[in-house]
Amino acid sequence: MTTQNPRRLAVHPLIDEEMIRTLVHGFYARIREDEEIGPIFNGAIGDGWDAHLAKMCDFWSSVMLMTGRYKGNPMVVHSRLKTVRPEHFERWLALFRQTARTVCPAEIAELFIGRAEIIARSLKLGIFYQPGGIRA
Ligand code: HEM
Repeated sequence: MTTQNPRRLAVHPLIDEEMIRTLVHGFYARIREDEEIGPIFNGAIGDGWDAHLAKMCDFWSSVMLMTGRYKGNPMVVHSRLKTVRPEHFERWLALFRQTARTVCPAEIAELFIGRAEIIARSLKLGIFYQPGGIRA
């Protein structure tokens, strides 16, 4: 069971929950202040930031440590955010790269960034560019 020994499947042996927490909290602190995409987040999340941050720690724990703690459907959730445009993903990634390179050792930062880029790409494709896709 992955949940019994998450470290066994971790993407890198030095990644732990504490690092994920620092990255997630640092990233969303930047996001909330960002002129371009901050308002999308603040509008959707309102006063629910504690729950959102906890969920995002679960998400990255599932991605990087294979703990299976996140059980959601990001594609559906993002497709409901009507003000998100394809170019917002570049801004999201720029802030994520900056944060990861600030708070993680260099090699590990690139592992997080690589995963984020793949997921961002698949979300963007799913929302905007599928034939008969979720959103025109
Ligand atoms: C343009 C870029 C993005 C924007 C504006 C955005 C915005 C948001 C917002 C506002 C929420 C909260 C929705 C709600 O609670 O109603 C959310 C949830 C979430 N986002 Fe993003 N996001 C973006 C990109 C990404 C990327 C690249 C990832 C992953 C690498 C990601 C992962 C998630 C996850 C896992 C959730 C939680 C979904 C759930 O409720 O289960 N997002 N996002």
